[in-house]
Amino acid sequence: MVEILITPQEQAPELLGHIAGYVSHRTVGMGLRTGMIAALADAQEGLAVDELADDLGLDPYHVDVWCRAALGAGLCQRRGQRYVLAPHISTLLLDEQSPAYLGGVFLVFEQDEMFDRFERVLGTGERLWWDDTRPEWIAGVAGTGTPFYHRLIPEGLAQVPGLAARLTGGARIIDTACGAGAGLVRLAECYPDTEIIGVDGDAYSLTLAEKRIAEAGLGDRVRLHHSPLEELELDQPATLIVNNISMHECRDLDAATRRVEAALEPGGWFVISDFPYPETDEGLAGVPGRIMTGIQFFEAQIDDQLLPRAAYDDLLDRHGFVDLGATELTPVHALTWGQRP
Ligand SMILES: C[S@@+](CC[C@H](N)C(=O)[O-])C[C@H]1O[C@@H](n2cnc3c(N)ncnc32)[C@H](O)[C@@H]1O
Repeated sequence: MVEILITPQEQAPELLGHIAGYVSHRTVGMGLRTGMIAALADAQEGLAVDELADDLGLDPYHVDVWCRAALGAGLCQRRGQRYVLAPHISTLLLDEQSPAYLGGVFLVFEQDEMFDRFERVLGTGERLWWDDTRPEWIAGVAGTGTPFYHRLIPEGLAQVPGLAARLTGGARIIDTACGAGAGLVRLAECYPDTEIIGVDGDAYSLTLAEKRIAEAGLGDRVRLHHSPLEELELDQPATLIVNNISMHECRDLDAATRRVEAALEPGGWFVISDFPYPETDEGLAGVPGRIMTGIQFFEAQIDDQLLPRAAYDDLLDRHGFVDLGATELTPVHALTWGQRP
C-alpha cells in the first residue's frame, strides 16, 4: 500500500490551479470571440467598463465580470477606472502574423473536435478524418499552424546548414500536408526564386489554400496537388520538402517517407516541423507537455498521436537520409532534418 504523506489540504492547490486555469482559458476565449480583447488593444489609453460595453453593444454588468476575470488572468491591468491590455497581450493573442501568436490555440482548444467529441466517443473509439471535421475546425487549426510556419520560414530553415543559400538560386519546394495554405504563401514570399507545390489529402483544405494563393497573387508560382503523402508522386524533383505539424498524422510513416525521399533531388532536404512530444513523465507534467497531452485528444480521434522528436531521427536514419540535424524553436516546436544522399 502507498503511504500517504500529505493531507488533502496540501494536495488541493494543484487541483485548484486547474480550476483557475480553466477560468482564465474561458476568459481568453470569450474575450477573443466577442472582440473585447481587440477593442482593448485598439484603445491606447484603455477603456472603462461602460466604454468597452458601449463600443461592442454588450451589457456593462457582464462586461464588468469579464474585466475582473481578465485582470485576474493577467490579460489586463488597471489604469484608474480604465482597463488596459498587459504588455504583449495584443501580439500574443491577436497578431496572427507574429511567430509568438497564441490566440489560435485558445480558440481551437474550445472547439467540439478537441475534447467534447473525444468524450462522446470514448466508449466506441469511433475515428474521424479531416473531411469529417467542420470548416470552423479547419480554420482554427490553420490559425494554430500559422505561427509554426512563421517560426519555420525563414528563421528555422536558416538553421539547416547550406539550405538558405541553395534556396536563393531557384528551387522547387513542396509543403507536404499544406492544409489551408498559410505556409505556401509564406514560402513563396520569403523565397522569391522558387516554385512551390502544396500537397494535402483533404480536398476542402486545398480549396482554402487555392483561395489564399489567389488572394496573395501567387497563382503563377504556387500549385496544389491532392494526394495522401503515402501515394505522393510528382513529375519534377524538389530541393526542399517541408512538413508542418502533420508528419505524425501519416497513416504509414515509412510509406510517406519513401515518397518524400523519391520526390527529392539528390542532396535535397526534408525538414519536419512538429510538436516534440515529451518522452518522460516529468516532461508530460510541465506546461508544454500538458498542452501536448491536450492535443493528443484530437490526434487520437484521427487515429494517431504526437511523437517524440527523436522518432524522426530514427525515421530519417532508417530511410538513408544523411547529415541529420535538429533544433528546438520553442518548447512546443522542434525541427528535424536530413538530406537525401
Ligand atoms: C494539423 S493540419 C496542418 C496543416 C498545415 N500544415 C498547417 O500547419 O496549417 C494537418 C494536415 O495534414 C493533412 N494530412 C494528414 N495526414 C495526411 C496524409 N497522410 N496525407 C496527406 N495529407 C495529410 C490533413 O489533411 C491536414 O490538412
